[in-house]
Amino acid sequence: MNLQITLQNPFTQKPLLQQPSGLTQNGEIVFPFKNGAYRLVEDNNYTQNFGYQWNKFAATQIDREQKNMQLSYNRFFAVTGWDKKDLTGCDILEVGSGAGRFSQIVLDHTAANLYSVDYSNAVEANFKNNGHHKDRFHLYQASVYEMPFAKAQFDKVFCFGVIQHTPDVNKTVQSLINMAKPGAEVIVDFYCVNGWWTKLQAKYILRPITKKWSNEKLLKKIEKNVDWMIAATTFFNKIGIGRFVNRFIPICDIKGTIPKGLSKKEIREWCILDTFDMFSPQYDQPQKISTVKKWFQQNGMKNVWGGPVRYNNCVAYVVKGTKA
Ligand SMILES: C[S@@+](CC[C@H](N)C(=O)[O-])C[C@H]1O[C@@H](n2cnc3c(N)ncnc32)[C@H](O)[C@@H]1O
Repeated sequence: MNLQITLQNPFTQKPLLQQPSGLTQNGEIVFPFKNGAYRLVEDNNYTQNFGYQWNKFAATQIDREQKNMQLSYNRFFAVTGWDKKDLTGCDILEVGSGAGRFSQIVLDHTAANLYSVDYSNAVEANFKNNGHHKDRFHLYQASVYEMPFAKAQFDKVFCFGVIQHTPDVNKTVQSLINMAKPGAEVIVDFYCVNGWWTKLQAKYILRPITKKWSNEKLLKKIEKNVDWMIAATTFFNKIGIGRFVNRFIPICDIKGTIPKGLSKKEIREWCILDTFDMFSPQYDQPQKISTVKKWFQQNGMKNVWGGPVRYNNCVAYVVKGTKA
């Protein structure tokens, strides 16, 4: 396979070749290809919950699977500000691709080459959603800290909804920047600390317990309770006290994160997925925009910008910059 990107073993720094059966070194497979992705790691790492979640809800957030749904499309282009035509032939790195909602946007709407990395078995869900883009799509199960690429090769790097779920957020930002070419843009969006009240909510109070539960147990509890929680939060919003009360109800923020225009059944499914996503991660470390901006600057980025970006009825907290 002829790639424009040089592959490199992150553990030995030796060159790798991408073959249909695996990533090879001196003709030997060092990282096998399995169910659509090259595997540098095993599934039983700290992101196993995400592997479970994204394979269970593989199609839920994929625009292509929903009628009239452009949520991922709108978020992707609002956050990046990229022009589809400028991306033709670009090598784009996506880290923490999950089920591939943004991989789909890049692959279906641009002519870029996409290299997507996720530490979990979510790569299988992504392959189901996007594997038909055979020539331009390359998928790796690997950690952001140990990716199979030589440094400074990508024209664009994006990482949405991921950095807060990694053990060392500053190191994660550095690893992303390391992959960008001089002149390339790096963009992250993440959970943001808005003030002292950010952590005063059911998620941060209960997660130390719920993250220890099995995936099955957590999902079952959410499914059992989701209907009354939707009813209660909707009621509190209606009478105008949702802003103060709903943060203590252990369900995702329906008003701020669930798109408008979904059927009742779809809202229920999105709520189950987003609530599982709240209570299962090993790491959840929201960041101040000013902190992430500082990390960008300290790691050789110029024209660094950070702030909220609005799309549909939602908001993403974004930092971006250009590699010097
Ligand atoms: C909340 S999900 C977001 C997925 C996708 N970007 C989206 O917005 O739908 C976070 C993803 O980051 C991945 N992740 C967490 N730590 C990672 C790491 N060290 N390296 C690569 N991916 C990681 C998880 O496996 C998970 O799929």
